[in-house]
Amino acid sequence: MRGKRPDMVVHQAAPYNAEPPPHVLAGQHLTPVEAFYSRNHGPVPDIETGDWRLQVQGLVDHPMEVGLGALQDRFEHRTIEATLQCAGNRRTGLSAVRAVPGEPWGSCATSTASWTGVRLGDVLRAAGLQGGTGHVELSAPDLSAHAEPPQTYASSIPVAKALADEVLLAWAMNGQHLPAVHGGPVRVVVPGYIGARSVKWVQQVTARRDPSPGYFQATAYRLLPPDGELAPGAGIPLGPIALNADILVPADGSTVPAGPTEVSGFAFAGDDRDVVRVDVSVDGGRTWVQAGLDDRGGPWTWRLWRTRLVLPPGRSQISVRAWDSTAATQPERPEQLWNPQGYVNNSWGRVTVTVAG
Ligand code: MTE
Repeated sequence: MRGKRPDMVVHQAAPYNAEPPPHVLAGQHLTPVEAFYSRNHGPVPDIETGDWRLQVQGLVDHPMEVGLGALQDRFEHRTIEATLQCAGNRRTGLSAVRAVPGEPWGSCATSTASWTGVRLGDVLRAAGLQGGTGHVELSAPDLSAHAEPPQTYASSIPVAKALADEVLLAWAMNGQHLPAVHGGPVRVVVPGYIGARSVKWVQQVTARRDPSPGYFQATAYRLLPPDGELAPGAGIPLGPIALNADILVPADGSTVPAGPTEVSGFAFAGDDRDVVRVDVSVDGGRTWVQAGLDDRGGPWTWRLWRTRLVLPPGRSQISVRAWDSTAATQPERPEQLWNPQGYVNNSWGRVTVTVAG
């Protein structure tokens, strides 16, 4: 894929589904565009900036249609840093328990960028959002064969989130034009919610009483019970991201030299929760040491953490768990979380390393 690092781990070439190798994410608060993971359910649409239009419709008093120029002229610009994280991130931890369908995401279907755009809320208010609105549907033209019959991509968020200060219609990523693979000319960014709600190439914003009836809201991106079956309305719709943390360095299965080992990774708490502590264990969770947290975390980004461990010669397993501002922590094992679609693996992050003797 043009504009992406050659060492991206590509799960599918078309549509493009890829994540960076873990060491590339490590230590960088903002992920360069060339390393940012990408999740696509259908072919990336080729939309000329000048042709792009946004329709605002449904439960609004003044339905609107605006192009990018009018959007930029009429509404206040805002830039925020936000982490996107796919609900399928760390799926391989679940498929190791029992097979699940979908891309075999490792630890890096998550990345952080600064996003520039206008508030979705300002646009909805200008359109005269009506009181009976419960959800705001965000629709795009990319056709996905995941649904049967194939459907264009649509998703929705509750109206309170749609009106929140942090939810953007964004045209820039890390100060550059938003590339097509990340939703250019304009995408929605819903900080703190699973990536699936940050609809790329958005063309319609529809105020509705109920959530979107589309496949990606009503059927996919829902947490089924272990014996559940995919069906419209089944399971828990996924919105705010569950607390998660993982180890990015050293690599799982690697050999490290004797002496202190630098261990680092990310921790992320969705919606309005913050990561407040990260613990690392080398004895399967009997004892823990606290890792240092970077202080760059805005309210909508991950926190990078690091520690230095002196490991004995031979094999060691390193585990990590985060705590959030509600004093919640992560479940220990993926077996406790297994679900048929392989979503929300937020069990302790683990790597096994060998210290050269
Ligand atoms: N929007 C559209 N139109 N089509 C898609 O396939 N994928 C969603 C979301 N928005 C998707 C979409 C999912 S599941 C994720 S995790 C994020 O986009 C990924 O955004 P990225 O490719 O910019 O990393």
